[in-house]
Amino acid sequence: MAGLKPAGLKPSGLKLGVLISGRGSNLQALIDACAQPGFPAEIALVLSNKADAYGLERAAKASIATAVVSHRDYPGDKPAFEAAMDAALRGAGVELVCLAGFMRILSPWFVERWQNRLINIHPSLLPSFKGLDTHERAIAAGVRVHGCTVHYVRPAMDEGPIIVQAAVPVLGTDDPHALAERVLEQEHRIYPLAVRLIAEGRVRVDGERVVVEGHVPGTDAALVNPAA
Ligand code: GAR
Repeated sequence: MAGLKPAGLKPSGLKLGVLISGRGSNLQALIDACAQPGFPAEIALVLSNKADAYGLERAAKASIATAVVSHRDYPGDKPAFEAAMDAALRGAGVELVCLAGFMRILSPWFVERWQNRLINIHPSLLPSFKGLDTHERAIAAGVRVHGCTVHYVRPAMDEGPIIVQAAVPVLGTDDPHALAERVLEQEHRIYPLAVRLIAEGRVRVDGERVVVEGHVPGTDAALVNPAA
């Protein structure tokens, strides 16, 4: 019958384009999630601005199409660099772009072209600690709770409607490395969760806020640090 897929084949879902610059552990979390039966998204393209990004190997291992668009091939010409990325993403039929450790700042042109179809993961509880070295700065500031955020991208760096956050206690014994490890574990949980919620059509952007329809399991517990 038309529209039915042969048994055993994963039905196709929302087509993701994942942009990386390096290690790609968040990419791996998305690859693993997409491999689960019933996950409503698939990775159509992994695009890196660096040819030696380890994430490209992860994608190849999972038989996912890859592309390299190096900013170095477009010296002083960001519009051409971004147009090449845009063309690669559109050519692959991408519907949602996921920044996963992509370390170039995107221009308003690119961000607006992918308005509300472009998301990012950032290693802090935004709007605190935008930018780099978030774990060092969280420890230096003495915050008790740190974490990570998946949000829609807006032209200003690390700004935009928040989709999912996870909180991590900051321990007295933490150094930036230990804290980063615990935050990264949560990044690997919330990025697939955010993608799933979007792919299920449960995420609505209302002004600069996100409204998620329905209950998201595991979101009711409070975190107090130090424990009461
Ligand atoms: C992740 O911690 C991600 O949140 C961060 O870079 C790391 C990439 O790791 N992104 C940013 O700082 C963007 N502002 P990964 O390559 O292993 O996913």
